[in-house]
Amino acid sequence: MQRASEGASDVARPAAAARETWASRLGFVMAAAGSAVGLGNIWRFPWLAGENGGGLFLIAYLLMVGTLGISVLLAEIVIGRAAQKDPVGAFRLLGGGPWRLVGYLGIASAFLILSFYGVVAGWTLAFAVKQASGLFETAAPSQVFADLLAATYEPLAWAFAFLAMTAAVVSGGIRNGIERANLVLMPLLFLLLVLLAVRAVTLPRGLEGLAFFFAPDVTHLTTATIAAALGQAFFSLSIGLGAMITYGSYLQRGQPVGRAAFQIAALDTLAALLAGSIVFPAVYFAGIDPASGPGLAFVTLPSVFAEMPAGRLFGVVFFVLLAIAALTSAISLLEPVVAFLVDEYGFRRRLATLLTTVVAFLVGIPSSLSLGPMPELAAFGMSFLDLVDFVTASLMLPAGGLAMALFVGWKIAPLATAELAGEAQHRQPLIRAWILFLRFAAPAAIGWILVAGLIG
Ligand code: TRP
Repeated sequence: MQRASEGASDVARPAAAARETWASRLGFVMAAAGSAVGLGNIWRFPWLAGENGGGLFLIAYLLMVGTLGISVLLAEIVIGRAAQKDPVGAFRLLGGGPWRLVGYLGIASAFLILSFYGVVAGWTLAFAVKQASGLFETAAPSQVFADLLAATYEPLAWAFAFLAMTAAVVSGGIRNGIERANLVLMPLLFLLLVLLAVRAVTLPRGLEGLAFFFAPDVTHLTTATIAAALGQAFFSLSIGLGAMITYGSYLQRGQPVGRAAFQIAALDTLAALLAGSIVFPAVYFAGIDPASGPGLAFVTLPSVFAEMPAGRLFGVVFFVLLAIAALTSAISLLEPVVAFLVDEYGFRRRLATLLTTVVAFLVGIPSSLSLGPMPELAAFGMSFLDLVDFVTASLMLPAGGLAMALFVGWKIAPLATAELAGEAQHRQPLIRAWILFLRFAAPAAIGWILVAGLIG
């Protein structure tokens, strides 16, 4: 098999040459964990847990990750590694016929998520700068956040800056761009999450916040909560649209992936637990309602930093790292679309990146405006941003995951089993159970939650 020579620059190779691969297994795990750990953990998860009964949501979420999430994650990686193609190409090659549509659904989802993800990530950049300026020492964080959203151009400019950074990394390719960045940034991110969790828990009323996060409020046990937990599990693990198919396609065939899938899910869950242990103690400390929606992380954390020694510095570092966590995730939303244009239509990587980024920015504009100057951009009681978030995470990702479970469970089960024949001997029974789970239980569960969630 033709492979890029170790260490040599891959940049000059034309798109049609051997596909780029990860330099190491650790590099793949870190890149995939970098994809998984993002705004979903630190911004979206606490916001949803706050609105859906704290510990109850946590339990539902952990159940979803441990069963459906990990199964679909492994399915995606196996599809990608077997096909060595973008999501559309993978379904065309391995499935043919209408299976391609699953790939197209994924590309559309990636695109839509990226559009609002860039907007929220832009807030993190704005807050990093505002922390540095010492603004929060004089102004209430909730007011600063409201002012940022009320502006027309400021949040858009930050979203644009963020997407430009994302595009810069993606145009650099796999090894020298995506892998290298993640190997440095992920350990740093976890170190900071641990430090902040320790600080938050030891704040006055910190333990009350922790209790809210871990104690289940069963009055929230509704199908809407279960559906939100499923959507969050898929969103947080970066599954359901083919991002992990794309990352898996840069693995060499035959490289073991079972343990990697567990490690990715474990790191993502750890990050969510740490984020909750930061945000909820901070929420109680700052006297904020846990159910205050998408602004939750943005208004609580600056209140904590204001009370800390060297809080301004900590605040800057935190929001920069949050932006970095967002960056490593946004990269994995952009990459599937770019891989699609490169693999299917022979685009050059740079042009594909540029086009995708510009359109994602344009599609993100109504999301940004819907929270400020144009509140009329709303439907079904949700702002445009919340609506795109809901449709993608709660509908499109589970639908994609359902299709992938059926695909691996029924269409390519022998291939998938053969692909995993090289895994450790004691895992083989688990692999058979996995196929059965994907064949029956996973589609039934996801299908039921989708329908029940829709009809409320
Ligand atoms: N998992 C990321 C987060 O938690 C978001 C994300 C990145 C994503 N790539 C994805 C979600 C692919 C779904 C599919 O912030």
